[in-house]
Amino acid sequence: MRTQIGIVGAGPAGLVLSHLLHLQKIESVVLEARSRKYIEERIRAGVLEQGTVDLLVETGVGARLKREGLVHHGIELRFNRRGHRIDLYELSGGKAITVYAQQEVIKDLVAARLKAGGQIIFEVSDVSVHGFDGPKPFIRFRRNGQVEELHCDFIAGCDGFHGVCRPSIPASAITDFDYTYPFSWLGILAQAPPSSHELIYCQHERGFALFSMRTPEVSRLYIQVPNDEEIKSWPDDRIWSELQLRSALDGNWKLARGPVLQKNIAGLRSYVAEPMQYGKLFLAGDAAHIVPATGAKGLNLAVADVRILAQALAEFYKSGKTRLLDRYSETCLRRVWKAQRFSWWMTTMLHKFDTDSPFDHHRRIAELDYLTGSRAAMTSLAENYVGLPWD
Ligand code: FAD
Ligand code: PHB
Repeated sequence: MRTQIGIVGAGPAGLVLSHLLHLQKIESVVLEARSRKYIEERIRAGVLEQGTVDLLVETGVGARLKREGLVHHGIELRFNRRGHRIDLYELSGGKAITVYAQQEVIKDLVAARLKAGGQIIFEVSDVSVHGFDGPKPFIRFRRNGQVEELHCDFIAGCDGFHGVCRPSIPASAITDFDYTYPFSWLGILAQAPPSSHELIYCQHERGFALFSMRTPEVSRLYIQVPNDEEIKSWPDDRIWSELQLRSALDGNWKLARGPVLQKNIAGLRSYVAEPMQYGKLFLAGDAAHIVPATGAKGLNLAVADVRILAQALAEFYKSGKTRLLDRYSETCLRRVWKAQRFSWWMTTMLHKFDTDSPFDHHRRIAELDYLTGSRAAMTSLAENYVGLPWD
């Protein structure tokens, strides 16, 4: 088989890239380890930045997102039993975030690619990438038991944090920056209407809690738990009472409860691989970087990377110039590091660390107090949360 761009992974990065390339009349084939059903049901991110929404809408894959996505103009920060609204819309000059589940974005993109005749090969195994340090890169994989090769001009490694592309680059050519936080998030999906129409980030002495949603009928809720926590220690009742304690408020607040549909525990990590390219192999999204979920940036960064990559490849195929391709990693990393900083800042401000001294506690409350009382500080949060400008 032959194509122009061989893409490993049908997550947001791989699918958006394939879609953007198609609009530039550049051919690609996407190889995905999982089934179509699996990737269309996998529960992950939920918050889309303004730029991500605009890009999906402008490129023709945003019709359902526009119809069903929940546009939010603000978020609440809650600490010391009080809630403080950050007016994202007003502070960012008219930008918003949209709550629309990642698996819905995936469904829309898969449908659009297949409708346009795009090739996504699901359930491949034994994927390996070769020849990207020379002129003839190719991807070897197994489909229905048979080994096949996909020859291409470039390989896009969009295969997530545990994929094969990043580890295929010689270790000496990559520097990685890694920090694992000393806590995790227990997340639930509940058949319960959101308790508030906007997201609530709670700082509490028992630990962080987050109130999010997927639809007007389904809530997505998270609580900070220790890293070695087992899900069986968290029966539904315990989760609800912990959510209640961490969101306690002087004033009107009622936590809506309902059947728990899904439960999982995920760690929080900050990770960057530099550079994000080697020869004809380009890494994008979680394959190159991970952010702790507190800033809601992961999916958005994946989209931002492939937007840059698609532009660079388009320039190459139009003019033969490699100027943008050569600078791909450098261009992406400026945004990536700013998102890292923001996500780290939100995480350290809102979570409880076992090592916290009374001084740390007071400093954290002072930071939240300053933030929610200063227009300058809130503006900084707002512009990062809705997404920094593309360029
Ligand atoms: P992935 O989505 O991981 O896609 C990689 C794809 O490659 C997968 O489909 C995988 O099956 C496939 N693959 C892997 N290995 C191979 C292989 N060897 N061969 C072929 N295919 C392979 N981000 C936000 O922006 N906002 C949020 O609110 C948010 N909340 C989150 C909550 C949770 C619980 C989690 C886990 C993540 C959250 N994120 C959030 C992060 C976001 O989900 C990821 O950053 C995003 O999925 C990255 O997209 P990607 O395409 O780079 O990688
Ligand atoms: C989510 O809805 O899953 C979500 C929202 C905001 C975050 C992280 C996750 O910061």
